Amino acid sequence: MNQSACSDALARLVALAQRPGAQRIGALFAADPDRARRLTVSLDDLSLDLSRTAIDGPVSEALFAWAVAADLEGFRSRLFAGAPVNVTERRAAMHMALRAPAGVRLDAALADGGSEDAAGIAAAERARMQAFVTAVHDGHLRGATGQRFTHVVNIGIGGSDLGPRVVTEALTLGRTDARMEARFLANIDGHAFEAAIAGLDPAQTLFLIASKSFTTQETAANAAAARAWVAAALGEAAVGAHFVALSTNLNAVAAFGIAPERVFGFRDWVGGRYSLWSPVGLVIALAAGWDKFQALLDGAWAMDCHFRDAPLGQNLPVLLALAGVWHHNALGCATHCVLAYDERLRRLPAHFQQVEMESNGKRVMLDGGKVPWATAPVIFGEPGTSAQHSFMQLVHQGPAVIPVDFILAAEPDHDRPDAHRALAANAFAQAAALAFGRDEAAVRAEMAASGVAAEEIDRIAPHRVCPGDRPSAVILFRRLDPFSLGRLIALYEHKVAVQGCLWGIDSFDQWGVELGKQLAGGILPALQPGATRRGATVATPDAATEAVIERFRALRGEA
Ligand code: F6P
Repeated sequence: MNQSACSDALARLVALAQRPGAQRIGALFAADPDRARRLTVSLDDLSLDLSRTAIDGPVSEALFAWAVAADLEGFRSRLFAGAPVNVTERRAAMHMALRAPAGVRLDAALADGGSEDAAGIAAAERARMQAFVTAVHDGHLRGATGQRFTHVVNIGIGGSDLGPRVVTEALTLGRTDARMEARFLANIDGHAFEAAIAGLDPAQTLFLIASKSFTTQETAANAAAARAWVAAALGEAAVGAHFVALSTNLNAVAAFGIAPERVFGFRDWVGGRYSLWSPVGLVIALAAGWDKFQALLDGAWAMDCHFRDAPLGQNLPVLLALAGVWHHNALGCATHCVLAYDERLRRLPAHFQQVEMESNGKRVMLDGGKVPWATAPVIFGEPGTSAQHSFMQLVHQGPAVIPVDFILAAEPDHDRPDAHRALAANAFAQAAALAFGRDEAAVRAEMAASGVAAEEIDRIAPHRVCPGDRPSAVILFRRLDPFSLGRLIALYEHKVAVQGCLWGIDSFDQWGVELGKQLAGGILPALQPGATRRGATVATPDAATEAVIERFRALRGEA
């Protein structure tokens, strides 16, 4: 990356943002009636409409100048060549190999300087997964008592939970054709464990322990609790029939006592938040069916090919990323809202939070130097229309500008066409209200037309003004199915990679989460029964922590 050229591009963007009227979206439409068509780019039925932003010709030029200065095309080639783009961990980021069809060769660099056939390794493991899923579904593989498995519980956290959970829910919510009922256990909170097993029959329950590292405290604790629950009900000898492991750490899996044929592996070139396409997605296939899992991979691969091959100016992940850079770096928007107008995608923002914030929440460059610009915004979201009745007030009228992504399928999978039209009307209305707002003159005219007294108009009109010029992207596709869902998630994965490239950071590591994990390990002994007060025998890190431990113990009558 040419950092000084990137800084020049950013300076140009900031200057462009400060032009008088530069953020007037309505004025851009007035000047260019063709704007909606010009700023909409498609891949088959999937379109990305960026017309409701203040991106104009000069802004676009400066954004692409930044992409050139950051050598985005070189980064993209290195990514697909399996180069160690995860610089701090010396690893490739080759999740695309998990979705590559037969016959496609994708290699991944290894830390020792060699490389391996990533797509081939992924395909071989996928064949084992398919055989396993088929055996469970057709009843060849049963629990220890000979009963069929009716429920699957995925035990995992972070990327070993969010992606699989979002996709499983999206493909099974409200459907009668789900193959098994899936539950998800992530938190170390015992309440989560109780909720996950509530009403389940151990004899008919299959547990998947999903953990890339197989060392994660929450997952280890929950797996041990599940193991004890099965053993208590069915006997120790039954345990093996009810557990499967999904991991890169085959030694740790063996130590847990899971037989090799019950282990589905993947490699270090799959980051945790990109692992739903790997064996970590087994719960998706068990719950929704193998064909749907395969279609999900196919959809993601379609986006991979588009991202790899399309010119930057027609490239959906690139354009979505550049719009984000404009909003975040030039306009100073610190947050970003994701509104999927689809109840089946109600947990999508949670997955995108990890994909974006764990990937790009960084403050040093690849070379260890301080990042000279803002990196990842705070991502939040809820399904539309529910969001409209909670936080959207702030998005419409709050002092901060919060860009929004509207995500919507044109056709629903239910027989209530009126409901879907109403849902879509709300999505489009929100985008319009944010972009074009309602000025005071319009508010006053409307109030006067409805017969409101002049004094009352004076009193209320300022409160009813919606300033507009609040940007959004509209992402529209025909139908939410496994293929389009895979494509949508891969769109965001690549968007994040593009932004990481422009910001010059490592999007594929996550060192920031380690400190808390370490400290929790050190604090736990101080919470055990009999631990001495004030950390006399157990080292705690600081006076504030000692004090809160003391209060905690006092409330439990242990002080
Ligand atoms: O908390 C950070 C993290 O390492 C995530 O990156 C990962 O998705 C999650 O923990 C779970 O890790 P694992 O799959 O190794 O249990």
